[in-house]
Amino acid sequence: MANNKRIAVVTGANKGIGFAIVKELCAKFDGIVYLTSRDEGRGKAAQQEIVKLGLSCYYHQLDITDQASIDQFATYIKNNYEGFDCLVNNAGFAYKAAATEPIGVQAKDTVEINYFGTLALCKALFPLLRPHARVCNVSSMAGMLKYVNGDEPHATEIKKKLVSDTLTEDELSNLMNQFVETANDGTHKQKGWGSSTYCTSKIGVSALSRIQQREFDADPREDLVVNFCHPGYVDTDMSSHKGPLTVEEGAVAPVYLALLPPNIASPKGEFHWFDCKLIDWVTTAN
Ligand SMILES: NC(=O)c1ccc[n+]([C@@H]2O[C@H](COP(=O)([O-])OP(=O)(O)OC[C@H]3O[C@@H](n4cnc5c(N)ncnc54)[C@H](OP(=O)(O)O)[C@@H]3O)[C@@H](O)[C@H]2O)c1
Repeated sequence: MANNKRIAVVTGANKGIGFAIVKELCAKFDGIVYLTSRDEGRGKAAQQEIVKLGLSCYYHQLDITDQASIDQFATYIKNNYEGFDCLVNNAGFAYKAAATEPIGVQAKDTVEINYFGTLALCKALFPLLRPHARVCNVSSMAGMLKYVNGDEPHATEIKKKLVSDTLTEDELSNLMNQFVETANDGTHKQKGWGSSTYCTSKIGVSALSRIQQREFDADPREDLVVNFCHPGYVDTDMSSHKGPLTVEEGAVAPVYLALLPPNIASPKGEFHWFDCKLIDWVTTAN
């Protein structure tokens, strides 16, 4: 019966690192792998590529910035399987360096997809996670604290809030909104934020992962684990194919974190480099 099987879900999987994560999970995950994408045509074409490789996955549409799409997917999972076991939040977006959109627009769009989209999906899907579920949030080296590098003393104050063990999701969302508002009026550097909208959005994803693990620790369901990672500088559309790593190499850390065995003491809520090495997100300055 399909509903007795373990289920893995990968977002933004029609291309790039997400596609490679699906490919690896098809070979290594003991259960059904869902390739999801915001565009159905691109997603189904990717599913066919998986089939051509002699593997198999299921497909479902999923746009992490569209609440109706998120709700439809959550309802689908609930109705068909009651729950699921593995989530890789891979979907992401970055403006190109040459983009001409004003910084306020870039900040809104980037934070909306990378931070608020990931958050919205987690809010809808986390209630469906089964005991021993594993979540990997694909952050970035750009999501390291050192990129909160605007004017002092505000940058230090923001970092202090971000690393606090009592930071809540609402407080973090307020910080992300504050970045977007200040980018809009051009005061973000003065208020302590860095100049990169992508970095700030991924700093949000990193801080969110730590909050989520604290929530999992207090959850009555057994052994829920979330970690976050930098997949490396990878040869994809996002990097304009300048990254030296292959998508398969970029999938290594996300797949490692998605397949962490049951009942581990660690890692939990921790940042990992593309070689799976653990990095202390709070104390690492460079
Ligand atoms: N490449 C790197 O060097 C690098 C480095 C560090 C971190 N990362 C992170 O790794 C992840 C994958 O990046 P990549 O390099 O593989 O990028 P990519 O080739 O541009 O792929 C990004 C994927 O995310 C999807 N996506 C964008 N917005 C979405 C939305 N609202 N809902 C659902 N899916 C959405 C895209 O779909 P469409 O095809 O429809 O646009 C695409 O499938 C991202 O989170 C990225 O930030 C990448």
